[in-house]
Formats: sequence, structure tokens, C-alpha cells
Amino acid sequence: MNCSILKRAQEKDIIRIVLTNIRDFATDSYRKVDDKPYGGGPGMVMMPGPVFDCAEHVQKLSPEKGRGILLTPQGQKFTQAKAVELSKENRLILIAGKYEGFDERIRIGLGAEQVSVGDYVLNGGELAAMVIIDTVVRLLPGALGDEDSPRDESFSNGLLEYPQYTKPEAFRNMKVPDVLLSGNHAKIAQWRHQQAIERTKKNRPDLIKNNKF
Ligand code: 6GU
Repeated sequence: MNCSILKRAQEKDIIRIVLTNIRDFATDSYRKVDDKPYGGGPGMVMMPGPVFDCAEHVQKLSPEKGRGILLTPQGQKFTQAKAVELSKENRLILIAGKYEGFDERIRIGLGAEQVSVGDYVLNGGELAAMVIIDTVVRLLPGALGDEDSPRDESFSNGLLEYPQYTKPEAFRNMKVPDVLLSGNHAKIAQWRHQQAIERTKKNRPDLIKNNKF
């Protein structure tokens, strides 16, 4: 969070990121924040006490009400549309648990929605929180310089990005497609759209199904 776009966004006061360790809210000398699940079974579950105390502490750091988000593979899938939605909030409270999951009373009591960043299992929610921060910050006005112009069109128009080329014109016997050097903007736009469709069909047929392009 101290590099590149996230660093600059903080320096420009576009966002403020505060990190708080749930373990600081443990009540025993081992700083325990997880325990075995009632009913048995493998893994450990985040205890409600430390997570609640931590979330309440964080909420009180500012008068602005934060939208609580529990990072868990059981959540709704994070998408570009969700990122756009979250980018309109003034304040987010992202709650990352280690281990297998959260005591259900955390979700209920905090009124937090559950979000997952994809269909795979991470060791903890920290990287998922980073994914959300990174994706949301680049949508905030002023966060991107001209150099990193927002090419989020890929997902906003429901298609993957078309192939891109830069200098040199010929590289190891591979040439930049003639159409891109033609100066014919209508033809270029048409070629790119066609390429985007082909690429999406090949790599992400699931995106084609419910598409309107
Ligand atoms: Cl939010 N947490 C964990 N532990 N694994 C995940 C995830 C979150 N999203 C996808 N996999």
C-alpha cells in the first residue's frame, strides 16, 4: 500500500488507509482470536469478541459511518460492478479473518455483507482486502495519472481488452498489424471490437452468454 498508485492516492489525500490488528483486541495472554468450531470439524473459527471490539474501535476512529465488509470465500463474488458501487462510499471497513471462517454472530451483529474475490481459497482475507482496495482506489477521481488512464472498459462493456502493440513496429519477426498503422480510425475501432469478441469467446466464454454488445 506504500507503492505506486496507492501511495500517491494517500499522499494526495484521495484516500486514507488505516490498518488495525484484530489480535490487539484479544483478551487472553496468548492473544487468541480463533477457536475450534462448536459441533466439531476441522479448522478454526474467528471468535466474535475480538472481531467485534476491533470493528467498534475502528468505527469510532471517525464519525463517518463505515460500510462493513467481511472477506470470506462464502461471500458474493467481487466484480468490477461491485468495485464501482464501493467506490461511491465515503468509508469502508474491510474485515479480514485468518483461518477457516468467522463465527456467524460477527456477520449478523455487525450487519456486514460478505465478499469473496474469487472461487479459490486464500489463507486469509488480507490479500482479498488488498484486491478490493486496489480496484476501488483506481476508480476514485484523481487517483490515476495520465500515464495510467483507466482502461476498465474491458469489464464495463463486458468484453476483454483487444490486443495492444507499441514500439517497435517489428519485433523478432512479429509485425504490428497493418490496420493499426493505417490511420483509419473507423477501421481500427472495428478491428479492435472484433478482436475483443474473439478473445472473449476463447478465454471467457462465460462472459459472452449474458452479453449485449
Ligand atoms: Cl475474501 N478470503 C479467503 N480466505 N479466501 C478467499 C476470499 C476471501 N476470496 C476468495 N478466496
